[in-house]
Amino acid sequence: MSSSPAAYLLLHLFLRLSSKTCLECIQEGGLFCLDNNKCLVNSTTCNRSVDLPINCPSVPGLQYAYSDEFVRFSVLPVIAAGQTKEPQKCLDNNLPTMKVYKHREANCSFMFSDVTCAGFTGYDTTRKLIVLSIRGSHGVHQYYDLWKVGNENGTVPFLGIGRVTKVFHDNFESLWYGGLGEDMHNLIRKYPDFEIWVTGYSMGASLGLITSAYIAQTGMSNPQNMKVVLLGCPRCTDYDFAMWHSMNFPYSYHIIHAHDYAPRVPFFDNIDNISLYHPRTEIWYNNEMREGDSFVICEQTDQPFCSSKVQNLSTPDHAHYFNIDIVRWSLSGCPKNREDFKPIFGTHQRIHIEDYKFEKSSPVFYVLVSVVVVVVVNYL
Ligand SMILES: *[C@@H]1O[C@H](CO)[C@@H](O)[C@H](O)[C@H]1NC(C)=O
Ligand SMILES: *[C@@H]1O[C@H](CO)[C@@H](O)[C@H](O)[C@H]1NC(C)=O
Ligand SMILES: *[C@@H]1O[C@H](CO)[C@@H](O)[C@H](O)[C@H]1NC(C)=O
Ligand SMILES: *[C@@H]1O[C@H](CO)[C@@H](O)[C@H](O)[C@H]1NC(C)=O
Ligand SMILES: *[C@@H]1O[C@H](CO)[C@@H](O)[C@H](O)[C@H]1NC(C)=O
Ligand SMILES: *[C@@H]1O[C@H](CO)[C@@H](O)[C@H](O)[C@H]1NC(C)=O
Repeated sequence: MSSSPAAYLLLHLFLRLSSKTCLECIQEGGLFCLDNNKCLVNSTTCNRSVDLPINCPSVPGLQYAYSDEFVRFSVLPVIAAGQTKEPQKCLDNNLPTMKVYKHREANCSFMFSDVTCAGFTGYDTTRKLIVLSIRGSHGVHQYYDLWKVGNENGTVPFLGIGRVTKVFHDNFESLWYGGLGEDMHNLIRKYPDFEIWVTGYSMGASLGLITSAYIAQTGMSNPQNMKVVLLGCPRCTDYDFAMWHSMNFPYSYHIIHAHDYAPRVPFFDNIDNISLYHPRTEIWYNNEMREGDSFVICEQTDQPFCSSKVQNLSTPDHAHYFNIDIVRWSLSGCPKNREDFKPIFGTHQRIHIEDYKFEKSSPVFYVLVSVVVVVVVNYL
């Protein structure tokens, strides 16, 4: 399943002449200038330039195009269902032909016995779908576990693809071997021709990303047959993994609400001294995500483009996607009337970590600040 960067551009095209030029340009040691789509030997005359092949401009092909309506009304209920112990209610209220196969919960901390990871598998014989949805982190013990193990234990190699953050890798394994993997095997065996959706929110999005790679790389399913949709996904993969995933998954979107802090961290792993990257494709809504609101389909893969351009980050933006308080909506069974679950904080009331200087402080400190803010907000 290895592919060349050129194949990666073909998968995503929209072949633009500039994409090929960009790749050649960087391979020849240049910088590709986005202002005028020209190759530079000297970057001082360009405002926005690309220096990594992964960031050469391209967007998904038309048959894999992003649709706000599809994600808002068909995928969001699956993601929200994954946040509760009773996912069927959320499905009944939104996708009546979809059935929960099994909900799974597994211990996923060496430090705390009350920290668990959870998710469910489901199927829909009308739409011919198998779905998988993984819950986000919750509770001070889990935040502390993620912060501590995340900062102290670095990354591990994953199936020859690249490296993934150890804490998310371990959590993926706890959940997968805690039953989710067996359930996916059973469903795929029973419905071999169904499309597979892999989804998640927050930490669950990171676990979903790793799970999608596992399913593809172990041959359980072909990535062409999968849709990966992640909300507010923290970074958990290195350059090679991000490149591999971008090359192999034609339909994979990670959605970022405005200044949500979670998808912006961590950007560097201090233990292994490597930068972390999201795979393609980022969808960035720099607004309230109401119906009809605009979004950016990021032509680059990750930093320093699209949402990475904003520096003042927000915790409430992480709780609110598609103008809904995700956890509150899911715990109420995801009623059809979404109006009652609008965010309590408006844009102007965001709690911001103002003017955070990425260059000057350590990511460890940054993640700590985020955790503290999350904890404070959860006690409000
Ligand atoms: C580059 O930035 C400068 C200053 O912000 C601006 O005046 C100029 O038009 C930009 N050039 C291009 C090609 O975008
Ligand atoms: C880079 O650009 C600067 C200013 O435009 C110029 O002085 C310098 O000679 C250029 N360097 C190269 C290697 O082209
Ligand atoms: C998690 O661990 C606790 C105590 O160590 C145990 O009581 C509980 O059954 C475990 N839960 C799961 C889902 O394995
Ligand atoms: C993290 O690293 C520390 C120190 O090397 C070790 O004691 C601990 O067991 C590790 N934890 C995990 C979850 O790998
Ligand atoms: C970290 O990586 C950078 C760039 O690859 C290198 O210059 C630096 O020496 C490395 N630092 C450590 C402590 O390994
Ligand atoms: C966020 O920072 C930008 C500048 O980087 C500033 O223009 C904007 O007003 C800030 N937004 C808020 C809500 O603080």
